[in-house]
Amino acid sequence: MTKGISKRAEIVPPFIVMDVVRAANEMEARGERVIHCEVGQPSTPAPKGALEAAHAALARDRIGYVEALGMPPLRERIARHYAEWYGVALDPQRIIVTTGSSAGFLMAFLAAFDAGARVAMAAPGYPPYRNILAALGLVPVDIVTTEAERYQPTVPELAAAGDLAGLIVASPSNPTGTMVSRAEMAALAAACRERGVRLVSDEIYHGLTFEDRGVSALEVTDDAIVINSFSKYFSMTGWRIGWMVVPPELVRPIERLTQNLLISTPTLSQFAAVAAFDCTEELQAHIRRYRANRDLLLAGLPRAGFDHLTRPTGAFYLYADVAHLTNDSVAFCQRMLREAGVAATPGVDFDPQRGQRTLRFSFAGSTEDMEEAVRRLVNWKR
Ligand SMILES: Cc1ncc(COP(=O)(O)O)c(C=O)c1O
Repeated sequence: MTKGISKRAEIVPPFIVMDVVRAANEMEARGERVIHCEVGQPSTPAPKGALEAAHAALARDRIGYVEALGMPPLRERIARHYAEWYGVALDPQRIIVTTGSSAGFLMAFLAAFDAGARVAMAAPGYPPYRNILAALGLVPVDIVTTEAERYQPTVPELAAAGDLAGLIVASPSNPTGTMVSRAEMAALAAACRERGVRLVSDEIYHGLTFEDRGVSALEVTDDAIVINSFSKYFSMTGWRIGWMVVPPELVRPIERLTQNLLISTPTLSQFAAVAAFDCTEELQAHIRRYRANRDLLLAGLPRAGFDHLTRPTGAFYLYADVAHLTNDSVAFCQRMLREAGVAATPGVDFDPQRGQRTLRFSFAGSTEDMEEAVRRLVNWKR
């Protein structure tokens, strides 16, 4: 251990994808054009209605601190969203506005789990789950999921994971874009309840779906912690605003933690977020583009030798098994960037065990860029 640096800070690894991002930026600084399939964010700004609401708030409001749990109009608007999207009636008191879903995870883990508790999640999965848990002195437990189960955890795997305090489910998932059905969500929720395991449902890619809509854990249980965000469907990553829905007994603990750790969530972003719910037309146009991008990559990538793909039904990611091409996904992605000018994310960020043989393509960019990515990869002489 280095003197003056906490053990907890030292165990948190960096994102490997940032090395790809840096190399891509260097290439662009030299004047080369890079196709960005590594980024995990929309290529569009916040919807117009949200921007107008922010401008208006800047002109009339002081933008001071607000209630730790969020501005009442936003909490009420989020409650209405659950009625409209899922047919779920929610008490706005159970809704907590957060500084992105990232702060939601932090607060949820702090409020629900004691140090040393074991919390399970699917591998492959979004790396900060396990890294936030580890930084807080909790024990992340990887459930090594299979392609046959669309990389989602199952009840038998939950049972085999030993004594757990929590289970994180992400549907649609990053990096695979796969989803759990209503029956699967209900089965997981029931198994969690039986075992005294707190279900944490990451629903940040809801809305960004191509076939069936995402099922909220709130449709099948009242015990879950549901995490959501304005970052993806609402295209507002940099506004750092999200929300969670928690069981009533967790509201006060999270309020106390938020008051002390963060005071409140960015006020300007809360004004914008209320308006974002009314921007459906603009946001649906993004979904149509993502769907076209997905279909284009699903059809085109196999022609470039990437023929072992997991078909995503949500989010904007395509997970590719590249075991026939490499056993070092980091070196492979570096070479693909250097030689073909296409940036993608090596699987090691998502799956420490098997990620050397996988990579993730993001299709959040423009359709022209996706066409160009396929063209470049087809012509790439590996
Ligand atoms: C699955 C998943 N959850 C949570 C987040 C965090 O998003 P934010 O903090 O912007 O809400 C991301 C970001 O990429 C993600 O992919």
